[in-house]
Amino acid sequence: MRARYTNAMQLAYSEAELLREHPYARPHEEAGQPLHGGFDAQGDYVSPRTAVRGDAVRTWTAALETRGVEILTADRSLLLEGSYPTYEQTKLLLANGLCRSLWNSLTITGEVEGRGRFLIDFVPPEFGDIVLEDVSEMGVGHLSRGLLRAHGLDEGGDPATGIGGHDSMWFAARDLLFGAGAYPIPDTPPRIGRPEGARMAPCLSEAHEGFLLLLMNVLMVEVRAEKLFDFTERLLRDPEVFADRREKVDRALALVSRIRADEEIHVAYLRLVLSELRSLTFQNGEGAPIPGHEILDPIWEELVHWHGQELPRESRAQAHTGLRDYIREHPDPEVAEAVLTEFESLEPARPATEQ
Ligand SMILES: [Fe+2]
Ligand SMILES: [Fe+2]
Repeated sequence: MRARYTNAMQLAYSEAELLREHPYARPHEEAGQPLHGGFDAQGDYVSPRTAVRGDAVRTWTAALETRGVEILTADRSLLLEGSYPTYEQTKLLLANGLCRSLWNSLTITGEVEGRGRFLIDFVPPEFGDIVLEDVSEMGVGHLSRGLLRAHGLDEGGDPATGIGGHDSMWFAARDLLFGAGAYPIPDTPPRIGRPEGARMAPCLSEAHEGFLLLLMNVLMVEVRAEKLFDFTERLLRDPEVFADRREKVDRALALVSRIRADEEIHVAYLRLVLSELRSLTFQNGEGAPIPGHEILDPIWEELVHWHGQELPRESRAQAHTGLRDYIREHPDPEVAEAVLTEFESLEPARPATEQ
């Protein structure tokens, strides 16, 4: 993301400002589908709705750091499991014409991105109502004033204009690689967050607790996506992969890189807002005031464990079974047997190390 500072001291913004687009020299589109963001006069991609939002998040972050507050770590170091199937396993499948598993994972990624659309009209409970401090000049005070809406539009596109977001961009990348309709559309797993269990912050209302969990779950999904971007970009840059259609692969790669650039502000504002909440003092009803970090830290620790270790292990076990079955579907039984043997020999040790 480029730093284009407008007013480094501004801390309160209108929704219109947080949604404002840069003036693009050229619109963004692929295969006739209008897509969000655009290109500047130099031909560089510029992420959507970041004319003011980018500076706003940087300014709030700097203000928090000036108060001596640490910004929450949320990066790939939290993910202790490697990608699965691994890079070499994926290449093996593609080299043997077993492309449906990559088609499925690109489709599911797009579908999951599209689910973020619910944030466009989501009305969150206000944290300003249950903390002692004034949040009107913090990121947390702007969640319902443009931040969540911008995020939802980035993920799921704008239904009002038909301009596509990340879901359309993943589908466009997939179709460049395989051709539209190459395989059936797979079912998408129902959940993105940790399954709900017992109350995790009974000192908060259920609405506030649920919203806190939502912010943390979405942040961890964004962190997991980082790994997917790395994997996909590395795969598409590999000249041995899709060797017969490199021009289309380059276009798909450009789309994935643009999605990745757009995600930076999501990670940045979610880290900011959770760091702000950790630094605030919660006062709900008659009870004694509680420092935010005492409420947030145990919940964050549990979600990091779930997203970083439990879920990938569970998903890997399921994927392994599914991939074995898929390889056996190869029309030539001898090839199926050879691929299966090699696939198993490439199986990473448990727990999976970084691939
Ligand atoms: Fe996204
Ligand atoms: Fe995102």
